[in-house]
Amino acid sequence: MKDKFYITTPIYYPSGRFHIGTAYTTVLANSIKQYHKLKGKDVYLITGTDEHGQKIEEKAKEQGKTPKEYVDEMAAMAKELWTKMGIEYDDFIQTTEERHEKIVQKIFDRFMEQGDIYKGEYEGWYCIPCETFFTQTQLVDGKCPDCGREVKLMKEEAYFFNMKKYADKLLQYYEEHPDFIKPDYRKNEMINNFIKPGLEDLCVTRTSFEWGIKVLKDPKHVIYVWVDALTNYITALGYLSENDSLFQKYWPADLQIVGKDIARFHLIYWPIFLMALDLPLPKTILVHNWIMMKDGKMSKSKGNVIYPETLMQRYGLDALKYFLLREMPLSQDEIFSPEAFVERYNFDLCNDLSNLLNRTVSMVNKYFEGNVPYYHQTPNEVDEELESYTLQQIEKFEEKWNEYEIANSIQEIWNLIARTNKYIDETMPWQLANKEETEKLESCMYHLVENLRKIAILIQPFMKETAMNIFRQIGIEKQEMKTWEKLKEYPKKETIKVIEKGEPIFMRLNVQEEIEFLKNTMKN
Ligand code: ME8
Ligand code: MG
Repeated sequence: MKDKFYITTPIYYPSGRFHIGTAYTTVLANSIKQYHKLKGKDVYLITGTDEHGQKIEEKAKEQGKTPKEYVDEMAAMAKELWTKMGIEYDDFIQTTEERHEKIVQKIFDRFMEQGDIYKGEYEGWYCIPCETFFTQTQLVDGKCPDCGREVKLMKEEAYFFNMKKYADKLLQYYEEHPDFIKPDYRKNEMINNFIKPGLEDLCVTRTSFEWGIKVLKDPKHVIYVWVDALTNYITALGYLSENDSLFQKYWPADLQIVGKDIARFHLIYWPIFLMALDLPLPKTILVHNWIMMKDGKMSKSKGNVIYPETLMQRYGLDALKYFLLREMPLSQDEIFSPEAFVERYNFDLCNDLSNLLNRTVSMVNKYFEGNVPYYHQTPNEVDEELESYTLQQIEKFEEKWNEYEIANSIQEIWNLIARTNKYIDETMPWQLANKEETEKLESCMYHLVENLRKIAILIQPFMKETAMNIFRQIGIEKQEMKTWEKLKEYPKKETIKVIEKGEPIFMRLNVQEEIEFLKNTMKN
């Protein structure tokens, strides 16, 4: 039986179009899914929408729709975008679905029965658009620290989850499971900023609006945000339902991906809810940083938003994915700039990758009428060096990717591409041809094609179309030769033929024109 791998993305607030920042999480999740699929795992990826709360209620009203009509439309829009972006999700959960709501009520009841949830009174500064209460000290100039808008002082009867009860157990769990939080520094943030100062109990219901899941035993309360939202990761698998086979198979999650703004909820409240339910915790929660603009957060009002569709239409899906994954640092936010985008495109995709393919295909045509020579061990130092460098890069790639250092791992592939280009300069195949050193020339062509095959396998998880295009151009037809299993091998008896005329996979962009274009799209 295959090993399973369960991945989740956050469920998105359906409050508007998704920009490249929001798309980042899902692109990342899908790439990791594809990687594990290639490695032969049974992968299950879910995403969805987080559809309750006052903000949604108000949005729907603005548009003259019922909340359910509104969220269904938005969920359909999200699915359409993910499909366009090649995101192969296995399930899409909407929190207004019965399969979710019923189970959330059961979970809430269980928390009450166990004494994890108690009734109290809540007072705080509430930001309606962010649906978040803040304490006085959290406010920035008396306004919402997240969005900068006005906050209201509100007080109401509410239920609370007793987080304090679990604080020590959580700390111990962190301690004993070094892979639970990635990157590591997020763990220290949680401990120093939230747990050590004393974990506050979490308000889990509201009475001031209707659009939410009702507490069965006290229906004037609706379950507010986190008990509803976080549990999607298990309700989507049928937890506590009549058919929980998916839950039995896939839980605990192998990887849950979240943006830094919701790290606290996933690294503290979520594991505590799971402990209260007596369930195993996810193996890893990966926290990523944000894509920012030079002038701060992307927002329509600032006129600095970039939508994934725009980049896809003009530059192709693979260029977009490459850029998103390649530019995101582990330790800080990425600042999107049109200059950086065009530079990556021209240098990494066009100069490095596309040219390597083109040069190789045209040389194999020129010297061997398109027939890729067989592998034969020649005591050739340059070839041996290239081979050992290549195998080492594959290992580096895997090591980093498995640690979810995605940008760094992709850098290792591009180092390999650069090294392979350099190999052409070192071996100077045109001279080998002049001197009629056929065996060396054959070996050189073989190694170029073979490295392109390896590179195509490596980029498959995040640049599938490009990978397929490379395989086609270098004449790799057999599915077997595209698999991870064959990555480290040097096949010996293949009869393959490159295509007659190479086709550039990425064409050089006009720098000024494209920077102009990108700047203009932000204004719309
Ligand atoms: O937070 N760069 O939903 P959401 C990178 N419903 N990532 C970004 C980003 C940016 N500029 N902007 C947003 C929610 N994101 C909750 C989650 S989970 C049980 C409930 C990321 O639509 C953000 O960090 O506001 C989050 O991971 C995801 O997009 C959805 O954000
Ligand atoms: Mg958000």
